[in-house]
Amino acid sequence: MRSLIERLHREHTLAPDEFRILLSQCNDKDLSYINALAREVSHASFGNRIFIRGLIEVGNRCKNDCYYCGIRRSNHLIERYHLDEETILACCRHGYELGFRTFVLQGGEMNDDEMIIRTVSSIRKEFPDVAITLSLGEKETSVYERFFQAGANRYLLRHETHNELHYRKLHPETMSLSNRLRCLADLKRIGFQTGTGIMVGSPYQTIDNLIEDILYIENLQPEMIGIGPFLPHHDTPFAMMPSGSLNQTLLLLSIFRLMHPHALIPSTTALATLSPEGREKGILAGANVVMPNLSPVIQRSKYSLYDNKASLGAEAAEGLLLLEQRLKVIGYVIDKGRGDYNAY
Ligand code: 5AD
Repeated sequence: MRSLIERLHREHTLAPDEFRILLSQCNDKDLSYINALAREVSHASFGNRIFIRGLIEVGNRCKNDCYYCGIRRSNHLIERYHLDEETILACCRHGYELGFRTFVLQGGEMNDDEMIIRTVSSIRKEFPDVAITLSLGEKETSVYERFFQAGANRYLLRHETHNELHYRKLHPETMSLSNRLRCLADLKRIGFQTGTGIMVGSPYQTIDNLIEDILYIENLQPEMIGIGPFLPHHDTPFAMMPSGSLNQTLLLLSIFRLMHPHALIPSTTALATLSPEGREKGILAGANVVMPNLSPVIQRSKYSLYDNKASLGAEAAEGLLLLEQRLKVIGYVIDKGRGDYNAY
């Protein structure tokens, strides 16, 4: 196992069968070892600095019906909301004051493209020095182009799984893996710093699925990689499914860090929700980004992708001081730069 991990460190890849061994036979000691190597790699790229992104959840209306997600269309038990342009701008002003230089506009999939384009243009005009990241799901090529022209720099769209059969177990027939992959290819080509990723331990996921995901991400070379555990939401078809495991998530974070030394990899809210020290453990496994919540506090609980989603304390933009203290304990500091992808 050691020699496999060391080779992954040196060569940034392994054969599929070797990934299978790593993913199925990694014990606690091996995990500590790969986490430590990944941490060193992260340190070589970023030092002890953690980038912060202000996450603005712009709305929970969604036309899709993904079986895992709490804001799926069929969930009639949540209150729907959306933020208007002025409210989003107010979140940015607040965030800018706090020191954020990246804003992430994330929301359910809906046809609000014109509002988003206007809002992105306004943010770009008022804050020429910030990075604008969008995470709004699948769109037509021309819409992505217009987002980019309006001044957006980055786009997050997890592929969720690269396996057709697994994809079908997570999504209804109205969605398709091929369209999702088309979107990711578009985003890259248009010039977005592009993020993709998966939920670890999503229902029916196999080790072979994970290997496919690893190889797809290796091929795509995204600038950002988002990895968090699956967590059930009580009003979805997957309510009774078990959460993804902490150790499997930490292992995958380290694998991606060893394969992608310069990628921007967040220690996700889902990881912080799964385990009290999840955020710190993610960083110590090679993550280098955290995304505190900048949404209006009264709306936060409605953006319930999964149960008990953390949005307060160190997960909140107004809790930056607390985040700072917690990072200090493990030897890290917040970097308030834009934190663009930089291959050198
Ligand atoms: N558990 C964990 N992550 C989830 N997401 C959606 N639902 C869940 C869940 N139940 C993730 C998806 C999506 C991102 C915005 O949130 O991977 O891409």
